[in-house]
Amino acid sequence: MSKTVTFDGAAPAGTINFGIGQPSADLLPLDLVREASRSFFDEAQPFDLNYGATQGDEQFLHSLAGFLARNYGVPTTTDELIVTGGNSQGLDLVSVVFANPGDTVFVEEPSYFLAFQIFRDHGLKIVGIPVDDDGLSVDALQEKLKSHRPAFLYTIPSYHNPGGQSTTEERRRQIVELAEEHDFLIVADEVYQLLYYYDRPPPAYGTMSDSGRVVSLGSFSKILAPGLRLGWIQTSEGLVARTNALGLMNSGGSINHISSLIVRKAIDNGSLETHIEFLRHSYRNRVEAMDAALHEHFEGIAEWTRPNGGYFFWLRFDHSVDTGPLREKARRVQAGFQDGAVFSSCGRLNNCLRLCFAHYGEDDIREGIARLRPLF
Ligand SMILES: Cc1ncc(COP(=O)(O)O)c(C=O)c1O
Repeated sequence: MSKTVTFDGAAPAGTINFGIGQPSADLLPLDLVREASRSFFDEAQPFDLNYGATQGDEQFLHSLAGFLARNYGVPTTTDELIVTGGNSQGLDLVSVVFANPGDTVFVEEPSYFLAFQIFRDHGLKIVGIPVDDDGLSVDALQEKLKSHRPAFLYTIPSYHNPGGQSTTEERRRQIVELAEEHDFLIVADEVYQLLYYYDRPPPAYGTMSDSGRVVSLGSFSKILAPGLRLGWIQTSEGLVARTNALGLMNSGGSINHISSLIVRKAIDNGSLETHIEFLRHSYRNRVEAMDAALHEHFEGIAEWTRPNGGYFFWLRFDHSVDTGPLREKARRVQAGFQDGAVFSSCGRLNNCLRLCFAHYGEDDIREGIARLRPLF
C-alpha cells in the first residue's frame, strides 16, 4: 500500500505555503540514510540493540566530537557532549535541569515560538529581549538584568528563527561576560549554525562551553533528517554531570540510541559533510530566488534583510498592517506564511511575517511570492 506524506501542517496539493519550516523532499537524503543504516546493521552486534550508555554511545560521541571539531573549528571531547532527541527535547531537558517552576527565562523578541510552549510547560516565566540586525541587544539585556534574575537566556545566535540575523562575535562575548557577572546560563539553540550560504557565522557558543555558562544545543534535523530525532548538548563537564543525573536520563538515557549509531556511520564515511555542502548550495539558490522575488513584488511595501543562512526571511510592514488575518486570505490564493505575532512573547509583531524558503524549489518560490503580493 502506498503511503501518503504526513506531517502536521502539510500543504494541500497546489498550495505554496512558506509557513512550513521543513525541508522539501528532494533535500531529505534517503540514500545516505539507507547506506549508513546498511553499514551499521551489517556490522551490528546484539548489544548494539541494548539501552546504551546514559550520556550517549561512546563511539557516536567520539564521531560527533570529531565532526564538531572540524566544523566549529576547536578541539572537542566526548566529556562535553550528551546525546538528545533533537533541540526540542534538549529545550525540555534544560528547562528541567537548569530552572525551577516559577523562574524567569529570557528569550529573544522575536523567538522560536514552539520554545515558548516548552518553557511554559515547566512553569517558567518568559521575558523578551529585543534583537536588531546584529542579534540580541546587549544594552536591552543589561537593562532587563536590573529587574530580573533569569535562570537562563534562550538565544538562537546564528540565522535566527524567525529573524534570520546572527549575533556578532563581540556581542556573544559580552553576553557570556554578563552571564558570569549575573549568574545565569546561556542556552544557545545552534540548529542553523552550519547552514551558512556565504561567509561563516561567528563561532558557535558550543566553542565556549568551558566557560561553564553555556549550554549549546545542536541537532541533525536541519543538516540531515528531522525524522531521526537526534541532537546533542555541548556544555561544560559540570553541567553534563547535572544533566546526566536527571531521572529521565537515568532511566531513558542514550536517547534515540539506534538513530545515533546510524548517524555515526554517516559522520565516519563523510557523507554527512558532503550532504551539508549540497544543502548550502541548494539553499543559497533558494535564498537568492526569494530575495529577487521579494524585490520584484514587495519593494517599498515591506522591509527585510536577506539572510546569510538558515531557513527564513522576516518581513516588516507598516504598523497599519496586521498579518494574522491575512493568513486566511493567503490560503484562498493557495499561498501561505507564518504571521509575526506567534513569535512574540508579549503579543506584538503583528505587522511582521516569516517566510521559509526550505520547503520549495526556486520556481515555486517565485510563484508563491507573486501570489502573496495582492494581499498587501
Ligand atoms: C530555532 C529552532 N529550534 C529548534 C527546532 C526544532 O529542532 P529539533 O527538530 O531538533 O527538535 C527548530 C525547528 O524548526 C528551530 O527552528
